[in-house]
Amino acid sequence: MDTTTGLEGASNGSFFQDAESLLADAPSQRTFEIQQVGKRRLAFGHRAHRALSSVDARFLFNIANARSTDLILDPFAGYGGLVSEAKRCGLRIAASDVDKILSPGLSALQPEVGSIADARYLPFGADHFDLIVTEPPFRTAYRQDVIDSLPELRRVLKPPGRLILLISTNMYEGVQNSLGKMDADVKRIDIIPRGGGLKCPVLEIRFEEIIPVLHEA
Ligand SMILES: C[S@@+](CC[C@H](N)C(=O)[O-])C[C@H]1O[C@@H](n2cnc3c(N)ncnc32)[C@H](O)[C@@H]1O
Repeated sequence: MDTTTGLEGASNGSFFQDAESLLADAPSQRTFEIQQVGKRRLAFGHRAHRALSSVDARFLFNIANARSTDLILDPFAGYGGLVSEAKRCGLRIAASDVDKILSPGLSALQPEVGSIADARYLPFGADHFDLIVTEPPFRTAYRQDVIDSLPELRRVLKPPGRLILLISTNMYEGVQNSLGKMDADVKRIDIIPRGGGLKCPVLEIRFEEIIPVLHEA
């Protein structure tokens, strides 16, 4: 039981993590090309601690209920777990991540657009994407960066805007408070167990459309 975050009681029961499929499609079964000090080499997802299994990725796209015409963004793309699953499902997805070493592997997944970018300053115009599905970094050191990226994620979404977030429990409260200040509607859909005993809430966020206030002259 997690007593610090209000996440007691685990899931709503809509997510079932089938152990066999989890292993069959685990990040350790795939490689990803990275570039370090000018050299390219193959990395394995399980070593990098950041790749999402395709079972978990599929769950997020099921929640997202994306249409094949939607343009989706994963702004914390990492080793591309969500990107490869979106492609497998015939969905259109753009990918970005702040970490330069991921560039060759992300390009190989052939997203609609692949870029190295900080999620707080995305190189996309306003109202560009139909949906964002993403898994920000888990470590507490990144919490403020993740919170600071939320207005930017909203900016690139077509209004009213929908975002599916898989976050760690230590991000949950801060992210929820910030979204509250942005008048977003936040629904906790379920909790996905991740490596190392982490329990990660899955949030469905809907931003209200901003209606400009007209002042009389
Ligand atoms: C949990 S991992 C994502 C894993 C990914 N879903 C996968 O399946 O491989 C989080 C990613 O966020 C990236 N990241 C950290 N800070 C960032 C920022 N400010 N902007 C964009 N990406 C960032 C990290 O480089 C890392 O790859």
